[in-house]
Amino acid sequence: MVEKTKAKLSPSILTADFANLGETFTMFERHPSVGYIHLDIMDGAFVPNISFGATVVKSLAGKSKLPFDIHLMINDPSRYVQGFVTENTEYIVVHAEAGVHLDRTLRQIKSLGVKCGAALNPATPPEALEYVLDIIDQVLVMSVNPGFGGQAFIGSSLKKLRTLANMREKRGLCFKLSVDGGIDRNNILDVADAGAEIVVAGSSILNAADPDAELKAYDELLGGIGA
Ligand code: DX5
Ligand code: ZN
Repeated sequence: MVEKTKAKLSPSILTADFANLGETFTMFERHPSVGYIHLDIMDGAFVPNISFGATVVKSLAGKSKLPFDIHLMINDPSRYVQGFVTENTEYIVVHAEAGVHLDRTLRQIKSLGVKCGAALNPATPPEALEYVLDIIDQVLVMSVNPGFGGQAFIGSSLKKLRTLANMREKRGLCFKLSVDGGIDRNNILDVADAGAEIVVAGSSILNAADPDAELKAYDELLGGIGA
């Protein structure tokens, strides 16, 4: 277990009140544990749910100082990535399972001037990224099957994070490790200990009775003793 961690929260707004996102963003900014805003894009084809698209992301840009961590759960992402480049966009993450030409799509994202990431569904092994790891800025380990907030954490994700952290160390690479799905205050230190530096959490924050108090508790956990 870690006492201090470099891990930052990337709160997912999937279960937020979309009519009051401005207030939600302001709340995020008050908390030192929050490093990013995670935006979940779903197309109703790659995953069995539809969320929002590039028009909404563009309208959110400039409304927060926090960088956007954009998670595309869509088929054939290379057709759409350009639309998600905004002044806030730090990462655009595509699924390894979602397109035929992952290497090309990752290079396309980088050519747009933003960082690229690849996400792995729970059943996809880390080796799926072996030949693109050296151009990747973020690897996102899905700890639920993508599509919905509020699902239970899948424990094998810890092993996958550790394997990826080892691959990174052995090859002298510096991509960020991220984890998404079923994260709460009971397991966040476990995923941080396994190597996660960007920790996505949706319902545990925004469905809490008092989201601001929940984030304060995360601040204390991630800041470690004395924070
Ligand atoms: C799941 C999404 C997640 C989700 C996280 O498909 O990618 O980002 O919103 O929500 P929780 O934390 O509720 O699992
Ligand atoms: Zn996500």
